[in-house]
Amino acid sequence: MKDLISTSLKYQQGQLWVLDQHQLPDQERWLECTSVEAMVDMIRKLQIRGAPLIGIGASLLLAHLAERGESPTALEQAAATLREARPTAVNLMNCMDRMLATLREQGALALGACAERIFDEDVQLCLNMARQGAALIEPGTRILTHCNTGSLATAGVGTAIGVIGEAHRQGKGIHVYVDETRPLLQGGRLTCWEMRQLQVPYTLICDSMAAMLMAQGKVDCILVGSDRIAANGDFANKVGTYSLAVNARYHQVPFYVVAPYTTVDPQCPDGSQIPIEQRSAAEVQGVSGSFGQVRWSPEDAPVYNPAFDVTPASLVTGWILDTAVLSPEQVKAGALSHL
Ligand code: MRU
Repeated sequence: MKDLISTSLKYQQGQLWVLDQHQLPDQERWLECTSVEAMVDMIRKLQIRGAPLIGIGASLLLAHLAERGESPTALEQAAATLREARPTAVNLMNCMDRMLATLREQGALALGACAERIFDEDVQLCLNMARQGAALIEPGTRILTHCNTGSLATAGVGTAIGVIGEAHRQGKGIHVYVDETRPLLQGGRLTCWEMRQLQVPYTLICDSMAAMLMAQGKVDCILVGSDRIAANGDFANKVGTYSLAVNARYHQVPFYVVAPYTTVDPQCPDGSQIPIEQRSAAEVQGVSGSFGQVRWSPEDAPVYNPAFDVTPASLVTGWILDTAVLSPEQVKAGALSHL
């Protein structure tokens, strides 16, 4: 495989490296990944995260194992195990299906080229979404975003953050409100880091402040990413996205989801069929990061911790894809089922 280098993932001189997102924003520490067990562990711990990136990371590992001479049977088993690492982002399943089809049709040696295509394609998809989305942003727009959707979640410039970065690059004078994104603080830790890298003016807020900002007329538009978009336009994204959408409708703030075609699941009829990952109680009982782990609730406090929620299509102003911005009318007419 040729060398592939992005902000958060790299394949260099035959070694696969993952930027440890646990250590951000304080340290940029890279971890070498040499086995399926290590990749599954990193995906589950969110050291590598974001819907497109986990699929790309798993694909690079499979190709790496093929180059090390693993048998087709072992590679099939590896793909099956990686596929199960997290349940909600359909990108992971799509990538594993693409790699398996290549393995079966062309053999193990073709996996390197397939993984390269998956990586390079994501870079291009991000640029396409960025251009589609930036065209919608008026000068001076104040954008609110949730979770992290940038170069730490994709191989390229990102989905919602890709649009933000492009609008900024075009000199539109935007300002971004960053939801901190409890419980794992992808906004506070990762999106702030990315805004700083991109030199986009931003303000960090607690998730619970978003409604008040909208009521005060300080938010002109909301941009979020997605882990899976169903055929009817309902979509799963980081928990908290649904309440943003409800609040946006109440305050008449345009609400856009930004995602590549690899996040659309035409086989999934609606949001009720999207599998939602449940995570550990400890994530809600306290917080962890580069500083270690802190718990503030009683040790045995019962917890409900779904990692994602589903936003119904009826609350979405537009679906910013890599090919077009779809309207509610187009989605109702079945535009997502034909992707
Ligand atoms: O649990 P995470 O951090 O992997 O969740 C990520 C998100 O919810 C993103 O918004 C989504 O993957 C789209 S990013 C391109």
